[in-house]
Amino acid sequence: MGSLFFNKVAGALLAIFLIVLGLSTLADGIYHTEGPETPAYPVDLAALQPAAAEEEEEAPADFAVLLAGADIGAGERVARRCASCHTFEEGAGNGTGPALWDVIGRDVAEVSGFNYSQAMREYAEGGTEWMFENMSDYLESPRNYVPGTAMSFAGLRDQDDRVNLIAYMRTLSNDPVPMPEPAESDAPAESEGDAASADSEGEGEGDAAADAESDDGDSEPIPDDGEAEPQDG
Ligand code: HEC
Repeated sequence: MGSLFFNKVAGALLAIFLIVLGLSTLADGIYHTEGPETPAYPVDLAALQPAAAEEEEEAPADFAVLLAGADIGAGERVARRCASCHTFEEGAGNGTGPALWDVIGRDVAEVSGFNYSQAMREYAEGGTEWMFENMSDYLESPRNYVPGTAMSFAGLRDQDDRVNLIAYMRTLSNDPVPMPEPAESDAPAESEGDAASADSEGEGEGDAAADAESDDGDSEPIPDDGEAEPQDG
């Protein structure tokens, strides 16, 4: 009887425990709601933005890096598209557009004897110079960048064309402006390079030594304690 009573009590306690557990789990399920991790209808905001916005993201690219990889020969070919209006040679005169020798680093609208548009003269105000980035922006779309410019040229939409052309134009000078510095200074990169080359030299020596040893081993597999002699005799 005593043990049956104990069983009943134990059973009741277990039942209570299970009910409490069940209720709290149930309550948790009912009241504790978390927001969904992803919206039911995911919206690709990037896809909704106009294509123009995407193109503008290209602009802040590091010009130093771009120019360092530029193809000057390709830039010279792109420059032919300007040749109907511009000259690029030193001392050459103006055409429909102003002479472009030494234009990178030059003040905007500075060529004497050329009748610049009002828009270009306004853009020049405050001592604006033609540098890599504003040249790229202007050449991408002259009419957008300097509204009212007299340069009736649709623009170079391809960034590689612009970078190559600007790299070429930079060389058209007796004193080219310095190449832009990359965002990070390249001093650490240089020292890393030195360390790497020193390492590889060391490795090379080590390899050579190892090869020499293994060669010895291959050609003379027999210990040099005199037991090689029986081969001869
Ligand atoms: C249809 C003729 C024409 C073509 C093609 C043309 N340009 Fe021009 N460009 C002009 C004219 C005109 C101006 C003067 C703009 C003004 O006064 O608003 C000008 C101005 C410029 C300027 C400003 C110069 C300064 O002294 O401030 C640059 C730089 C330039 N052009 C570069 C180019 C390049 C590079 C190309 C080829 C990718 C090109 N242009 C193609 C007609 C042309």
